[in-house]
Amino acid sequence: MKQNIVLIGFMGSGKTTIGKDLAILKNCCFYDSDHELEKKLKTTIPEIFTSKGEAFFREEEVKVIEELSRINGCVIATGGGAILDKRNIEALRANGTLIYLKANYEHVYQNIQGKNDRPLLNTKDPLKTLKKLMKSRENIYEEACDYKVDVSNRSIPEIINNIKELFKYNDIFENETKS
Ligand code: S3P
Repeated sequence: MKQNIVLIGFMGSGKTTIGKDLAILKNCCFYDSDHELEKKLKTTIPEIFTSKGEAFFREEEVKVIEELSRINGCVIATGGGAILDKRNIEALRANGTLIYLKANYEHVYQNIQGKNDRPLLNTKDPLKTLKKLMKSRENIYEEACDYKVDVSNRSIPEIINNIKELFKYNDIFENETKS
């Protein structure tokens, strides 16, 4: 049986928020690949991009995801660009069910407003960059995932319920705390 629930999708699609809630529901551990990377390197993602560059970040991301993929029975939220490297997809799929949180650009733009922690969107025209990046990645998310869940204009409980539905016939939620 596949062991982890892995959330993939564009930055600002809610992977971390939804992942934490899912883990509470499933009564299991939660990991966020960006957070683990920051812990490991004792710095922030924007700082890594500035001082070492994106290529360095991507290699470190591969290492962190490789480690996280060895864990069982957890919810794992991945950085939005993790799917760009096939090694990450392979590692995550070997031991997990991949759920693509699909968001439209309005949803993403709203979620990232006022935040300054996405170095790839630190451009003159963030909305234009966002649209371009989303377009270039859409097919990769679609192809990498086992399931797709639309998150645009939907509440967190609605999204969680949708994910629960996906696992109706799977015992992945067997540890769910009764309400
Ligand atoms: C990135 C997404 C970010 C983070 C880094 C690069 C990307 O994670 O890994 O800034 O390439 O889309 P979130 O998806 O959690 O924002």
